[in-house]
Amino acid sequence: MTQDKTTHKPVKKAVFPVAGLGTRFLPATKAIPKEMLPIVDRPLIQYAVDEAREAGIEQMIFVTGRGKTAIVEHFDVAYELEDTMGERGKDLGVLESSRFVPGDIITVRQQVPMGLGHAIWCARAIVGDEPFAIFLPDELMVAHKGSTGCMKQMVEAYDRTGGNLISVLEVPENEVSSYGVIDPGAVDGSLTQVKGLVEKPAVADAPSNKIISGRYILQPEVMRVLEDQEKGAGGEIQLTDAMAKMIGDQPFHAVTFEGRRFDCGSKTGFVEATLALALEREDMGSDVRAVMERLLG
Ligand code: UTP
Repeated sequence: MTQDKTTHKPVKKAVFPVAGLGTRFLPATKAIPKEMLPIVDRPLIQYAVDEAREAGIEQMIFVTGRGKTAIVEHFDVAYELEDTMGERGKDLGVLESSRFVPGDIITVRQQVPMGLGHAIWCARAIVGDEPFAIFLPDELMVAHKGSTGCMKQMVEAYDRTGGNLISVLEVPENEVSSYGVIDPGAVDGSLTQVKGLVEKPAVADAPSNKIISGRYILQPEVMRVLEDQEKGAGGEIQLTDAMAKMIGDQPFHAVTFEGRRFDCGSKTGFVEATLALALEREDMGSDVRAVMERLLG
């Protein structure tokens, strides 16, 4: 399953497709991007960017759309806020993780949300000829205590395999139809060879219950495949369909993330993530537990 380590370039760029409409969270997402909804006190996009930085990624490319400017502003310097907080002796440390080296936040526009594959293709000029990571920020990947984040685990695997990598997790068989599913080949620890990919299969046709879970490392050739990609499931240009065409030409593996994943694109997943992270916080966990006990009677 491994390639010569010297043959592949390091992953230094990440694409964050954030141009979706967020219809499942309306009306909350009418004026606020879904990616700015907070889990406790950090917006979803911040968790994804922090995960990227931990994995050694330097350039963050946001594929944005109408009404998404708050995402870019979040990573800007907030002069008035910082001045006022400084004058009042408040700790500016809370703003540290949203600071960036100038030039390392790049945005491109997807004018019409034609699907995830199309959103990624919109970043082609900035990705250039390098391997790149993709983060779907509404999927929150939380590492186990003392362990590393999902993308860092993937980059470590990529150092061994090269090629294309996707993060997967197992779901109950009757849930596969909502996701991209892999046709699994040989398994080596947390690595599984990918023989095929299918977007939103019927339960009876699904090749496995291992679903793609919002993190990817892809070779730049995918941009050329996306160039000609036709519409797939839901009438959208699907990234899964483009990736499926690359299997066989390049190594393709799935990494099972050792950690937890919360689907914050769904309301129940969002609430679950909020409760789980709040309960684990040293500064508020016991208060939240008391509140929950009171609510549950
Ligand atoms: P989702 O389907 O989960 O997001 O797309 P959505 O369309 O915003 O949400 P709902 O279903 O209407 O509630 C997965 C990711 O791909 C991005 C989304 O922003 C999200 O991060 N996306 C999707 C785009 O950037 N462009 C698209 O055309 C579609």
